[in-house]
Amino acid sequence: MSTSTPSHSQAAQTAAAAADSIFRPEDAVLPQLHTLATSIIRSFDTEASAIEGMLKLTLGEPDFATPDFIKEAALRSLANNRTHYAPNAGTPGLRQAISDYLARRRSLHFPAEDIIVTEGASEAISSVLTALLHPGAVLLYATPAFGLYANVAKLIGVESIAIDTESTDFILTPDALDAALRSIRGRDAVLVLNSPNNPTGVTLNEAQLQGLAEVVERHAVTVLSDEVYAEISYDERPAPSIAQFAPDRTIVVDSASKSYAMTGWRLGFFAAPHNLAAQLAKVHQIHVSTAAMFTMDAAQTAYEQGDASIDLMVETYRNRRDYLVDSLVGLGYDIVRPTGAFYTYVHVPDEFDGSSFDYARLMAREAKVAGVPGEAFVDGPSRYFRFSYAASSDDLHEAVARLRRFRNR
Ligand SMILES: Cc1ncc(COP(=O)(O)O)c(C=O)c1O
Repeated sequence: MSTSTPSHSQAAQTAAAAADSIFRPEDAVLPQLHTLATSIIRSFDTEASAIEGMLKLTLGEPDFATPDFIKEAALRSLANNRTHYAPNAGTPGLRQAISDYLARRRSLHFPAEDIIVTEGASEAISSVLTALLHPGAVLLYATPAFGLYANVAKLIGVESIAIDTESTDFILTPDALDAALRSIRGRDAVLVLNSPNNPTGVTLNEAQLQGLAEVVERHAVTVLSDEVYAEISYDERPAPSIAQFAPDRTIVVDSASKSYAMTGWRLGFFAAPHNLAAQLAKVHQIHVSTAAMFTMDAAQTAYEQGDASIDLMVETYRNRRDYLVDSLVGLGYDIVRPTGAFYTYVHVPDEFDGSSFDYARLMAREAKVAGVPGEAFVDGPSRYFRFSYAASSDDLHEAVARLRRFRNR
């Protein structure tokens, strides 16, 4: 029997083939993950943070600490060893507290059994969209928008259509919605509404919501209404909901994050029409099983006793909004006047010949003030950037002083 020794070049080829077939786990993921961008807000924030002395008006979270009476409720819960698995849909006490809160402050009537407690509004959005976006369905959402909606659609692999609202003062009109729904010719759709809006601060009033509800009722569309800023509203308080006008079609998503300064607690919920709630709850159960019991106990206290603390925070936001908006207008910036949330959307000055990313970079370098480029909220180029005024009034005064020098340079 003869054996043959591979030649030098054969050995090299074999080694190359072996190298080619090395299994790389990072390549063996869902193909769409390769095209999902990581958050522009976070990456720009990291870039800006590297500059010494940077004043950041970038992040979307209250600068207040969680009120003491809520933290004390969590401590009591821990002391009572409420540290075990909770019911999947949330503790009965919290679900009832949310149901009462929605009726008391928001004129929304969902029985406790139709309220599912989630890990923040983020998980509510991803669980609900995962449940609703079946193959062949389409996600519709108005832009500029919080990036999560489109990312969930990309992850699931369903089509999404962004309806640009810039030409209608950042208000989604019934005509624009109707045109988008007609363009998909009877396919099932999920419409995401976000009022008050991140990033514009624009809040839809009752007449505008009623107009949209009338369109919704004529089409095969379910609405996910992201109302995380509903309490932070300056004209109609709290902001109205499309669920008042299309209750059988609307899933309300909200969380304790912004209303009670509880972003780190990861506690939210969705409230759904009765025949949908149990189906949607299954996805929540698959994703996270349940929220943590002691955070639910703390949130129960917040929803039962937190009205006054919300009102106090909103008055502070209102004063900051007035100061920042008036100052920016005084500096010659063209802004979208916010009626809710804690953001103002600022137009990049016409004389600046670059993207909003370029402008935000220049402002960060020269003024040492950071805002989020509008590209974070639209698919494509933007002429806007977002400032958050969830910042102390000292920081806002200093930011305005720096921007004045920057504008006059
Ligand atoms: C419009 C909008 N929806 C949802 C969320 C997520 O909120 P949560 O902290 O409750 O997950 C945010 C957070 O910034 C947001 O701006």
